[in-house]
Amino acid sequence: GCSTSTTARPAPPRPRPGPGFSLPAAAPLPHLLPQLRSAMSAEPAPAAAAAAAPPPRHRALVLTGFGGYEKLKVQSRRSSGPGPGEVSVRVHACGLNFADLLARQGLYDRLPPPPVCPGMECAGVVRALGDGVRDRQVGDKVMILAKSGLWQEVVNVPARQTFLMPAGMSFEEAAALPVNYITAYMILFDFGNLRPNQSVLIHMAAGGVGTAAIQLCKTVENVTIFGTASASKHDALRSSGVAHPIDYRTMDYAEEVRKISPKGVDIVLDPLGGSDTSKAFNLLKPMGKLITYGVSNLLTGQKKSLVAMAKTWWNQFSINALQLLHHNKAVCGYDLGSMDEEFELIGRVLSKLDNLYSQGKIKPKIDSVWPFDQVADAMRQMQEKKNVGKVILVPEAPKEESKKEEN
Ligand SMILES: NC(=O)c1ccc[n+]([C@@H]2O[C@H](COP(=O)([O-])OP(=O)(O)OC[C@H]3O[C@@H](n4cnc5c(N)ncnc54)[C@H](OP(=O)(O)O)[C@@H]3O)[C@@H](O)[C@H]2O)c1
Repeated sequence: GCSTSTTARPAPPRPRPGPGFSLPAAAPLPHLLPQLRSAMSAEPAPAAAAAAAPPPRHRALVLTGFGGYEKLKVQSRRSSGPGPGEVSVRVHACGLNFADLLARQGLYDRLPPPPVCPGMECAGVVRALGDGVRDRQVGDKVMILAKSGLWQEVVNVPARQTFLMPAGMSFEEAAALPVNYITAYMILFDFGNLRPNQSVLIHMAAGGVGTAAIQLCKTVENVTIFGTASASKHDALRSSGVAHPIDYRTMDYAEEVRKISPKGVDIVLDPLGGSDTSKAFNLLKPMGKLITYGVSNLLTGQKKSLVAMAKTWWNQFSINALQLLHHNKAVCGYDLGSMDEEFELIGRVLSKLDNLYSQGKIKPKIDSVWPFDQVADAMRQMQEKKNVGKVILVPEAPKEESKKEEN
C-alpha cells in the first residue's frame, strides 16, 4: 500500500530583488536625472531613494525549453499591478496536471512556446483590483483557471477567470479542484449522462481526474465502478468506492471487465488514447458512451518519444457516422483547454461543485505538496506513477508537508 508521512522541509531561498534598478526602455533623459543623481551621491534624498528602489519582484516557474525535468527553473520576475478588468492575486498553491508533463516535452500545443511560465490552475488571495472590477474585493480567496502562467507567486488575471473559493476550503484543495473536478463533472454528467444503477470504467482511477470521477460517481445511486491503476493503489481505490480495481500493468483490463460484466459497461472514461480508445468502444454496452479526453499513452519517459507518438497515431480510433449508427453507442471528445472563453458554462459547473463540496460529497485528495524549487520531484511523483490524488506546488516550502513515501 501507499503510506503518507509528514516531513518538515527546509524553506527554499527567499526571493531576492534583481540587481540595481531597471528603467523603461525608452525613458526620456529628464526622467533619468534624479536616479543618476541619487546613484552618485552618498546619501540620497528619501524621494530619490524611493525612485531608485528596485521594483518589486516575485518568483515564477519557467519552462526554459522542451525536454526533461531540468527544463523547469525558478526565476525572478518583475511584479506589476493589474490591468483594466484584471485582479492581482497572491498565489498560495498551484495544481500540477498531466498536461504539464506533456507540455514539458513539447507535446501540448495549448502552451505558448518556451521560455514560458506554465500553470493552468492556482488558488490565492486578491491583493489589488484593476479598473472596472466590481465583483471582486481585496482579500477575496479565489481559485483561478487559465491557459498558462499561473505557477508564480503573484499573477494578474482577468477577474472573470477567478472563482470564489467555497467556505472552509484550503488553498491546496482549491488548487486541486478546478481542472480535475470540472473535467470529471462534465465528462460524467454532461456527456456521460450517468444514471443510477449504471457501470463506469475509470482509467488512471487513483490520479487527479480519476479521484474526482470516483467521488462524483458516488453521488449517484448504485453506480458500479471499475478502475484501472497500479497495484499498490488498489486498497486506496477500494476504500474510496471502486468495486473492481484492475492492475492494467499486469493484466488485460478489458478481459477483466468482461469476466465480471460480460456485456461491458455503460460509460468508459478514456484519458489514454491510441489503441485504448478502440478497446473502450468495444467495452460499451448498447446505448453506452465513450468519452475520450487525453493521450497519456504519449508519455513513456522523461523526453518526447517518437515511437510512442507513432504508435498512438497509428492505433488512433476512427469510426464513420454510418458505423456509429449501427452500434447504438456514443463517442464524445472533451478538452477543457479549448473552453477558455466559456466562462458562464465553467462558472455553472463550479457552482455545482461548490454545493457538492459544501455538502461534504466531494473533497479533493492531496497526494503531496512541493515547493517551487522541487518542481522536478513533483513531476517525477506523477510521471513515475506514484501519486494517489493531486500533486500540488507551493511558491514557498510549507512548514510541514505531506509527501508520499515509496514502498
Ligand atoms: N481533456 C481535458 O480537458 C483534460 C483535463 C484534465 C485531465 N485530462 C487528462 O486526464 C488524465 C489524468 O490527468 P491528471 O492530471 O488527473 O493526472 P493523474 O491521473 O494524476 O496522472 C498520473 C497517473 O496516471 C497514471 N498513468 C497512466 N499512464 C501513465 C503514463 N503513461 N505516464 C505516467 N502516468 C501514467 C499513473 O497511475 P496508475 O499507473 O496508478 O494508473 C500516474 O500516477 C490525463 O490523461 C490528462 O491529460 C484531460
